[in-house]
Amino acid sequence: MRKLTYYVACSVDGFIGDATGDGTAMLACLDEEFLDFLRTEYPETVPTHSRRALGFDDLENRRFDTIVQGRASYDLALKEGIPSPYAHLRQYVASRTLAVSPSPDVEIVADGLVDKVRELKAEDGGLGIYLCGGSRVAGELYDEIDELVIKTYPVVYGTGMPMFAAGSDLTRFGLAGTRTFGNGAVVRTYARQR
Ligand SMILES: NC(=O)c1ccc[n+]([C@@H]2O[C@H](COP(=O)([O-])OP(=O)(O)OC[C@H]3O[C@@H](n4cnc5c(N)ncnc54)[C@H](OP(=O)(O)O)[C@@H]3O)[C@@H](O)[C@H]2O)c1
Repeated sequence: MRKLTYYVACSVDGFIGDATGDGTAMLACLDEEFLDFLRTEYPETVPTHSRRALGFDDLENRRFDTIVQGRASYDLALKEGIPSPYAHLRQYVASRTLAVSPSPDVEIVADGLVDKVRELKAEDGGLGIYLCGGSRVAGELYDEIDELVIKTYPVVYGTGMPMFAAGSDLTRFGLAGTRTFGNGAVVRTYARQR
């Protein structure tokens, strides 16, 4: 089985962005040490155009070969004129309103999102599935999440967009790894205990 990993940037108080979902304030934490971590451990989680700008668009995918995101998250790239933001991954966007995909690289999932993710997880071989967010899609897929990689940046929003929009049952995850950075960021990996 391939794993579904919710790999997400969070504030210390557990928000993935401000009340509108905007996480720009956290970008200030992407210093050289943190970028080096992304480059060596998670290069495929950086959008294709940013990889190019950072000079590592030739790096192989290490953990993921597929991305799932919600339409609101995908919209951020679309508004920048980038219809295929993760060209180095298989891309799925959950949407009931996008009738036609803006890119041949992006498959729209209108119905049966959970079934689609189960189908992807059941594929033989390959790398894992990167659940990008946002909050609503993560809530919809909560039961399917096998792993959490939470990049906690040293900022506090006070109020904001939670990791999961939908209610969910209390679930135990076991700590599988921690990495701390000089700027106060902490990346924790948790495996779901089934
Ligand atoms: N901190 C981070 O690491 C991080 C990562 C990703 C995103 N974000 C932030 O998250 C924000 C967006 O989050 P969000 O919760 O508002 O939206 P979202 O989860 O990105 O997208 C929600 C949309 O996905 C579609 N959708 C949801 N469930 C579906 C289902 N079961 N079947 C089919 N389509 C489904 C719907 O699109 P339609 O309306 O088209 O039907 C829905 O409006 C952005 O502001 C972004 O900055 C933060």
